[in-house]
Amino acid sequence: MQPLVVQRCLTTQADETRALGIRLGQRARAGDCVACCGALGAGKTTFVQGFAEGYGVGANDYVRSPTFALVHTYYGRTPLYHFDFYRLVCFTEVQDIGFEEYLDTRGVVIAEWADKFPQLLPAERLEVSIRITASGSRCVQWMAYDLLYGRYFLQAD
Ligand SMILES: Nc1ncnc2c1ncn2[C@@H]1O[C@H](COP(=O)(O)OP(=O)(O)OP(=O)(O)O)[C@@H](O)[C@H]1O
Ligand SMILES: [Mg+2]
Repeated sequence: MQPLVVQRCLTTQADETRALGIRLGQRARAGDCVACCGALGAGKTTFVQGFAEGYGVGANDYVRSPTFALVHTYYGRTPLYHFDFYRLVCFTEVQDIGFEEYLDTRGVVIAEWADKFPQLLPAERLEVSIRITASGSRCVQWMAYDLLYGRYFLQAD
């Protein structure tokens, strides 16, 4: 399926990736699914930290990669469920942690390494893809796979 809308932005430091996450997190609504993709160290967790802040998660609710816990829950405007599929090998492991059930809640689901299990991602989603450029900056691209996600697209300041 082709994305309906695509937007991208270059960030030269982690704070800028985080700031972009805040702006997008402010637009999130209960029931959204955000699939984060990008190589090791691309800045996915940094983006999620900003996204959580934008969604109203307090600063003392520390956002870190749920590598061992597999999912962390933070409380913003509604719960925010943060997954990391990096260590998962088989899609049944993702099912076992209840990923699909989380998608049916009044929470927001955000998953790092989401592209490892494309068959488990809802057709309607926002996809955020971060690429490390030759200069070490990050090219952050986000794509709406449903018009519902059109609200994530930013107007020029
Ligand atoms: N423009 C940038 N945007 C985001 N992170 C950056 C940027 N420049 C440097 N970094 C650094 O990249 C490192 C990796 O960031 P982060 O942990 O968010 O990546 P990740 O994609 O979640 O990694 P992993 O694949 O291990 O989950 C951090 O130390 C961060 O500060
Ligand atoms: Mg990470």
